[in-house]
Amino acid sequence: MNVQWYPGHMAKTRRLIGERLRQVDAVCEILDARIPASSRNPDVAELTAGKPRLIVLNRADQSDPDATAQWGDFFRARGFAVLATDAKSGRGAGKFAAAVRELLADKLKAYADKGQSGRVVRVMVLGIPNVGKSTFINRIAGRNVAKAEDRPGVTRAGQWVPVDKRLELLDTPGILWPKFGDETVGLHLAFTGAVKDEILDTETLGCHFMAYLSEAAPERLREAYKLPELPPRDAAETGIAYGFRLLQDAGRKRGFLVSGGEIDTERMAKILLDEYRAGKLGRLTLELPE
Ligand code: G4P
Repeated sequence: MNVQWYPGHMAKTRRLIGERLRQVDAVCEILDARIPASSRNPDVAELTAGKPRLIVLNRADQSDPDATAQWGDFFRARGFAVLATDAKSGRGAGKFAAAVRELLADKLKAYADKGQSGRVVRVMVLGIPNVGKSTFINRIAGRNVAKAEDRPGVTRAGQWVPVDKRLELLDTPGILWPKFGDETVGLHLAFTGAVKDEILDTETLGCHFMAYLSEAAPERLREAYKLPELPPRDAAETGIAYGFRLLQDAGRKRGFLVSGGEIDTERMAKILLDEYRAGKLGRLTLELPE
């Protein structure tokens, strides 16, 4: 399954990032704590070269806490400031301003030495669609600001959002990149909901996700769909064919039948993805640092 999604407004946002970079002191990259590698835009390093960077691992309530700690160490070892947050409840968000000031400590000291201690620090916030960027910005700013829509024709992007007298955020629409490096990246972005479901075949995606879960979290899968045991996978069976069988088993348990007694695997696929995204399969990180 070759997932790709790069509509024209994302290319436009890319240009906006380049144009506005001069105006900011730092860049905050919001990643999905469940897929910190796949949710990192590989273009960002080049697009924001030279700017101090803070990585926010958002959706930390949905990721495995040990895995999130490992990712924190991974990014810190590479020179990033790191913050784990749950923007929905607000957990971790209160540490943002201090983390930015720590990241920019040298620069702020230089300003203070020049008598410019009141200078406003500006941070550009970047992230893939659905990572929780708007929720995060609302949390940090402490109110409901307009969403920088990732839809064509809606250009509220590029607005400054004041956090306090000395800190402002620049919101940007969620973007992906023209070509995902390997199939796993596209799949992980699709599993978690960063790539719009409308452009995907949900049933096929569900087959892939079932096959993934059968290896990565077989117990969770068994419990969630009341499968006494997972059927053995034939040596020659593809992941997608095996995933389809699991969708059938789970759909049968849930009683998702269509006329003629067949199992509604498409409905089951949608439910599986919805339930994972809603955290009903528990806290599950799909990727660990190498
Ligand atoms: P975006 O700007 O990056 O596109 O994402 P947005 O903030 O719109 O968030 C997308 C969805 O993810 C929202 O849910 C939001 O509440 C949820 N969300 C954001 N951050 C977190 C987080 O850290 N943890 C969890 N569990 N969820 C988060 P929604 O279903 O669209 O709305 P609602 O159910 O919150 O009303």
